Amino acid sequence: MDNLWIVCVTAILLSTIILYSTWRRIRSRYRIPLPLGTLGWPFIGETLEFISCAYSDRPERFMDKRRGKYGKVFKSHIFGSRTIVSTDAEVSKFVLQSDAKVFVPSYPKSLTELMGKSSILLINGSLHRRIHGLIGAFFKSPQLKAQITQDMQKYVEESMEGWKDDRLIYIQDETKNIAFQILVKVLISLNPGDEMEFLKKQFQEFIAGLMSLPAKKKMVKLVQKIVQDRRNSSSSTLPKDVLDVLLNDASEKLTGNLISDNMIDMMIPGEDSVPVLMTLAIKFLSDCPAALQQLTEENMKLKRLKAQLGEPLCWSDYMSLPFTQNVITETLRMGNVIVGVMRKAMKDIEIKGYLIPKGWCVFTYFRSVHLDEHHYDWPYKFNPWRWQDKDMGTTCNFTPFGGGQRLCPGLDLARLETSIFLHHFVTQFRWVAEDDSIVNFPTVRMKRRMPLWIKRRRDP
Ligand code: HEM
Repeated sequence: MDNLWIVCVTAILLSTIILYSTWRRIRSRYRIPLPLGTLGWPFIGETLEFISCAYSDRPERFMDKRRGKYGKVFKSHIFGSRTIVSTDAEVSKFVLQSDAKVFVPSYPKSLTELMGKSSILLINGSLHRRIHGLIGAFFKSPQLKAQITQDMQKYVEESMEGWKDDRLIYIQDETKNIAFQILVKVLISLNPGDEMEFLKKQFQEFIAGLMSLPAKKKMVKLVQKIVQDRRNSSSSTLPKDVLDVLLNDASEKLTGNLISDNMIDMMIPGEDSVPVLMTLAIKFLSDCPAALQQLTEENMKLKRLKAQLGEPLCWSDYMSLPFTQNVITETLRMGNVIVGVMRKAMKDIEIKGYLIPKGWCVFTYFRSVHLDEHHYDWPYKFNPWRWQDKDMGTTCNFTPFGGGQRLCPGLDLARLETSIFLHHFVTQFRWVAEDDSIVNFPTVRMKRRMPLWIKRRRDP
């Protein structure tokens, strides 16, 4: 009889606990509202409307329409996932700063298959922190910046030597050439030559075919061979490139495949983001003569000073030009080279009164924040002067390089490369730009590759 009592009491207790926790879960889910919005059509959701806006010159229209109806954070269904879209800087900041227990990266399947499972853009936890830390520290080192400055000057001069007066150049192609060579040098110390040309060709196919697998396989093969050769050769103590940094890591978690996959993923900014930033800067400057004049004067002054002193330009000279930096910042704000990033919620989470349910994606859409008139007066006007005396570090309204644990480790590099390119271009050439327009999808670029009629300056 006693035993029966014990069994009954335990059963009642257990069911009460289970019922209570289920009730709490349901209550917490529905007490906090899901953001407003609509999930669109079955299966395709709102993807078609998203893409048709993305192809236009105002991709943020998709967001603007919904922001007006539902608020800055709304629900939708794009690229096959139920998604909470955030155009609210504070909500996006919270998402970016959360760790992998709360949010993990999440991209459409077609992209993740091409990136490879061990891409830094996808991995989490201690392995991610390790790789991010190693790369970030290397990219920040003054030796690397000095090396890049030297190489960049060389590659820029070599490219520009071939430019003849009154000829048409396509600045997007020229900048791609320069930035790709620089990044491949930083990653695996490959110098211009046959292997570089092979890699460049495969890479262009990889990106143009919206990331094609055969091209990626050929690149992986070449990079794996370089990794193997480097492993077999005697290792130096001071790393000369990212490959050395990862191979010298003592934790032994970094396998050959992981290293070569990541090398290729990290070439994407060299072919894409950095040259696009340079090209957009030229586009915006061409449309804003006052900014171009001030930028040219600032760079001419530095050039003359250095010539008088008989000193070469070093990386800190480039970075110390305030107006040039403001031009780059404003180009990043208006250009939105990376429109936003995607994450998936690992548990139900409440941010600023909104529920993001477990398993849903979050799309932090930077572009809407960067073009929000509440944050920036006349947001569609290229105005580098707006950044005078502003501290960018304290605002979450400006996140072209993301934030939190995944903040782009290449941000200084991107700025340095762009400063060097702008310096050499504006101090050596004048140009007249032909009409061209910005395409925003699937990646940002110029429709006609930004054709310019150039003339060498004859200034004393
Ligand atoms: C205009 C140039 C660039 C822009 C706008 C840009 C933007 C970004 C953004 C928004 C992220 C965050 C991704 C996320 O949170 O999921 C990111 C990550 C990253 N970027 Fe860049 N980037 C640029 C240049 C570079 C360069 C030159 C490199 C050098 C290799 C680089 C390497 C990386 C890496 C390795 C990550 C992954 C970081 C991680 O997940 O821990 N980027 N970038």
